[in-house]
Amino acid sequence: MKTLIPGDKIVLRPYRMEDAAVILQGASHPTLRRLTGTQATFTLEQTEKYVARQADADDRAGFIIAEPETLAALGEVVILDIDPDNRCAHIRITLFDEIHLGKGYGTEAMRLAVDYGFRVLKLHRIGLDVFDFNPRAIRVYEKIGFKQEGIQRDTLFYDGEYYSSILMSILEDDWREKR
Ligand SMILES: CC(C)(COP(=O)(O)OP(=O)(O)OC[C@H]1O[C@@H](n2cnc3c(N)ncnc32)[C@H](O)[C@@H]1OP(=O)(O)O)[C@@H](O)C(=O)NCCC(=O)NCCS
Repeated sequence: MKTLIPGDKIVLRPYRMEDAAVILQGASHPTLRRLTGTQATFTLEQTEKYVARQADADDRAGFIIAEPETLAALGEVVILDIDPDNRCAHIRITLFDEIHLGKGYGTEAMRLAVDYGFRVLKLHRIGLDVFDFNPRAIRVYEKIGFKQEGIQRDTLFYDGEYYSSILMSILEDDWREKR
């Protein structure tokens, strides 16, 4: 993704190497780590390699969710595991700071990325999984047109307890209906 995709509250833009510090901040935040099921810890060097991979990889389309005026990084949304034969992929999203949650950024970013997936990448299906203790994310996905497909039991072991995840997907027909 070379260009900027404009929205109202946010824009989607390509990754920049200086985003690594704020990505690392998000990946170290206890609430965000739990909501995304992040177990590993990362160094700045590893995070910079992650940023470099986003630009090179051809099986994914990653976007930084950015503030429209300053283009400061607020989060990321990544279409990954793109399978051109079956026209399917997965998607994941996170904002990098708890103060950004609940302001409509996630809904808009997800909608723009899903539009990109169907319109530009010509996908047929986009799937994701979300932990059952994350009603805000589930609400965002359902607003956009994702449907629940089933539950995977005990996929996450976090702070001594098991949690399940919900599989969701949106097909191109679901997306057309919501437009
Ligand atoms: C998930 C995430 C991307 C959503 O983005 P966001 O900007 O916070 O969400 P929005 O403000 O666009 O929308 C939140 C919606 O959930 C609703 N909501 C908030 N808390 C809720 C709750 N406890 N139960 C049900 N709905 C809830 C809001 O009312 C809003 O819906 P509405 O527009 O119909 O009123 C963001 O919260 C995030 O990054 N969370 C941390 C990481 C994460 O959970 N990633 C997803 C992993 S699968």
